Amino acid sequence: MDPREQGKQRSAERALGYIEEGSVVGVGTGSTVKYFIEGLGAWRDRIEGAVSSSEQSTALLKAQRIPVLDLNAVGSLPLYVDGADECDPHRRLIKGGGAALTREKIIAAVAQRFVCVIDGAKQVDVLGKFPLPVEVIPMARSHVARRIAALGGQPVWRDGVVTDNGNWILDVHNLSILDPVRLEQELNQIVGVVTCGLFAARAADVVIVDGDVRG
Ligand code: A5P
Repeated sequence: MDPREQGKQRSAERALGYIEEGSVVGVGTGSTVKYFIEGLGAWRDRIEGAVSSSEQSTALLKAQRIPVLDLNAVGSLPLYVDGADECDPHRRLIKGGGAALTREKIIAAVAQRFVCVIDGAKQVDVLGKFPLPVEVIPMARSHVARRIAALGGQPVWRDGVVTDNGNWILDVHNLSILDPVRLEQELNQIVGVVTCGLFAARAADVVIVDGDVRG
């Protein structure tokens, strides 16, 4: 197996150790989480079910015969496990490479503990080399793109991609994100933005890199 895939798999398997018996587990989206869902199959009789961040993860959870629950019907969510596209030393993230950022951010906001699972290549000192995904209401795409350009970013429409919420994605290039909390706020305030892929105000609580826990 490719070393990066091995790193993802090790991180995902380590995250299984954070599951609480009888609880609901929040599940992210992507190729790293895919390994987590595979491992979650062995837990199906010991958890109440899962809350899913995407149609893609819902299908994988159902294939493992894990009940998929509506977040509105869930009392508490002790754990959320998800991957990321970039992670800085303060556990702040860029997410949304798989276009599932909005539901991911909602689950992260509800969860008591957010465990982020990555391979080592995703660690950076400063966020922004990975183009920052922003989910937008379709009719606001040009307006949002102009506002982002005024902030110094270079937005590129992810043509052909429609999110699970029926919206579009702008990938913002050329950002060196020195103050991620502030930029997250600024982007989220642009009319027509559903959410941006910066997870800084609510960062991860634990990051697992190539299977090793980083705090
Ligand atoms: C999905 O929209 C993303 O936020 C993913 O969590 C992120 O892109 C990581 O995906 P991989 O584990 O596939 O790299």
